[in-house]
Amino acid sequence: METGEIIQIFAESGFQIDPQALEAIKTGSPELIQDVLKSIDSSVLVVGIEHIKPLTQSITPESAAIPAQKQKTMELPKLDFTLKDKLLQHPVTILKDITNQSTCIGEYTEFVNYFKDRYSLLADMLRKRISRRPIESLKKRNMDAREELSIIGMVLDTKTTTNGHKLIEVEDDTGTIRVLIHKEKDKELFDSARRVLLDEVIAVTGTLSSDGNLIFANRITLPDIPNTQKSMLAGKKAEGKAVFISDIHVGSNTFLEDAWLKFVDWLGDDIDYLVIAGDVVDGIGVFPNQDKELAISDIYEQYEKAAEYLNAVPKHIKIIISPGNHDAVRQAEPQPRFPERITRMFRSDIIFVGNPAMVDIGVKVLIYHGRSMDDMIASIPGFSYAEPSKPMVEMLKLRHLSPIYGGRVSIAPEQKDHFVIDVVPDILHCGHVHTVGVSRYRDVLTINSGTWQSQTEFQKRMNLQPNPAQATVVDLASMEYRILNFYAK
Ligand SMILES: [Fe+2]
Repeated sequence: METGEIIQIFAESGFQIDPQALEAIKTGSPELIQDVLKSIDSSVLVVGIEHIKPLTQSITPESAAIPAQKQKTMELPKLDFTLKDKLLQHPVTILKDITNQSTCIGEYTEFVNYFKDRYSLLADMLRKRISRRPIESLKKRNMDAREELSIIGMVLDTKTTTNGHKLIEVEDDTGTIRVLIHKEKDKELFDSARRVLLDEVIAVTGTLSSDGNLIFANRITLPDIPNTQKSMLAGKKAEGKAVFISDIHVGSNTFLEDAWLKFVDWLGDDIDYLVIAGDVVDGIGVFPNQDKELAISDIYEQYEKAAEYLNAVPKHIKIIISPGNHDAVRQAEPQPRFPERITRMFRSDIIFVGNPAMVDIGVKVLIYHGRSMDDMIASIPGFSYAEPSKPMVEMLKLRHLSPIYGGRVSIAPEQKDHFVIDVVPDILHCGHVHTVGVSRYRDVLTINSGTWQSQTEFQKRMNLQPNPAQATVVDLASMEYRILNFYAK
């Protein structure tokens, strides 16, 4: 491993490393770095050779000569082999995750490249169904105004004209053009125009004005997901049950400990996976005066408590955790997984991924905390926090988890747009809005998981009614689901 990489791994985990220790890591086994990070005390600031030596010493004949009686007690109990078998039967493959892939340093050109990548990925999806013309070509040629044509562009602006029509400006890689959607021409078309969001990529089919500067839309087409992908599932042998939750908010004084303990008690032999879509803890300084609503005011103590709760989950259950906006990772999305300083508080078999991330547990699960829902609910008429399924279905139609740039979601300009839904999941799992909603769109099950805290002061002021202490259980073979409620007032 390169020197820079090692320094970065330690830095991300909250440690510095001295040159001697660095050299020992470089020349040691590939597992050494993980062993050091697991064993080191969180009070250590600089990792030195004294922290590494005990881990590199090989077993001497002396230490190998363990008395027979002691050897017996050190034998692995039979249960552990069963557990290992079970975990092997139910593997988790991480298909997509930003962790350790971040490229951005925040330069202007990176934003340009980020949007180019978004356009090219989404336009490619539309091009399979729509034969488009480059926008620039519409202005150069003397087009027949009666001929229907299509363009594919990213939305630059949307507004309502003084007469109540919708005017959308779109841009492709050759130029920009305005699109007019008449309010009385076609109700369905006008409704879809009202839902168009800034920065999404759409195809517009219509006729051109005589000066070539305006398209009168007949149809708006979204990238969308295929009508059916059952054939993809049919050949797969998904098995077991997965439980989906999010927004635990450990550390908040509204965290519902009784309901949580009831839930953990309920987790039985028939459950194989527990998937958590962010906001494991309440965090600190996330909103003004949050300190008045905290039961635990130290972020690391919040995670220690969260680890205590999650480590008590039955050992055969594979836990997958992705972060949210209350967690201690960078706020700009996509977010990497928790740093080592936090993950080492938890059971070593827990799988930590970034936000968003796609994992395969027999079916493909796309996990996204869901902060973009704030922007979508504010922008799309008829959407509300009470119905989280609506923005989630919209994400699938747009094939994008966070379409609006410059809203509540701070988007880091990565080289690749990690929010594009290029591979269609079997399950889309979000949280963030603290309300429960499960729906099916085509062959995708969308799950919003609610929360494990009761109504906060902020939610009271905003008149937001959360759905606390609910968990969605999905049978992965049949994709049937049940929503269970552990809330007892
Ligand atoms: Fe939350």
